[in-house]
Amino acid sequence: MERTTTIRGRHVRYLDAGQGQTLLLLHAFPLSADMWRPQFDQRPEGWRLVAPDYAGFGGSERFVGEPAAVASYALDAIALLDALGVHRFVVAGLSMGGYVAFAVVRQARMRLRGLVLADTRADADSDEARANRQSMMAALDERGVAAARDAMLPKLLAEENAAAHPELVATVRAMIERNAVGGVRDAVAALMTRPDSVPLLKDIACPALVLVGERDAITPVALHEQMHAALPNATLAVIPGAGHLANLERPAAFSAALGGFLAALPPDSHA
Ligand code: MLT
Repeated sequence: MERTTTIRGRHVRYLDAGQGQTLLLLHAFPLSADMWRPQFDQRPEGWRLVAPDYAGFGGSERFVGEPAAVASYALDAIALLDALGVHRFVVAGLSMGGYVAFAVVRQARMRLRGLVLADTRADADSDEARANRQSMMAALDERGVAAARDAMLPKLLAEENAAAHPELVATVRAMIERNAVGGVRDAVAALMTRPDSVPLLKDIACPALVLVGERDAITPVALHEQMHAALPNATLAVIPGAGHLANLERPAAFSAALGGFLAALPPDSHA
């Protein structure tokens, strides 16, 4: 299930399991493809799941001579699917994964069978958010990945879930700490320069699923109601009891919503 290859001149690590139609899974900041393991464990029948580590995360090499931008992560993900011989696919992104998924929409709209936006947002960073990113970069330079861990860990999981599941906190912490500081720094640059995707929403004609943890403190439910309202062909699912990392906090409910969406997709007339 864990594989490596060379994409666009760089070493890339990805998780890959199952056979059939393809679901591309894009991870959150500052985690890795491993955050999708519960979904691999509950893989829907007839689907192949492919989850890359972004450049500079997990086991993937950092960008060389290329601007760190959500568009670059999307180019990598699409190039990986090309290398695997996959033309049509569904893309699912959680948080930063949603930002990268919007970039995938921009680059490969005709290849998409469906879009899943989980615990994310369509708008660009506010001035305040950009200032926070600058502080995060300075902290990363000073303290390494621990700076991202300390800033993000308390917000990623709902407080009740973190208290009740210390093993989940440990898993997320370990995932963050395995990342190299350079890759995390690149991602901060990409997050703060990402384009506004709100104008894109009305033109995304493929079926979409908007998923959010009821207690998501980073990208709250209201943002998802707005995306749901703006997308022409979308369903909204609120996962009870989950925080920002809804797929890890309530894996069964998340996977069930995802599986239901995939099962209800119309037959692929472009296949
Ligand atoms: C994430 O979970 O990927 C981040 O919270 C995204 C962000 O900081 O905007």
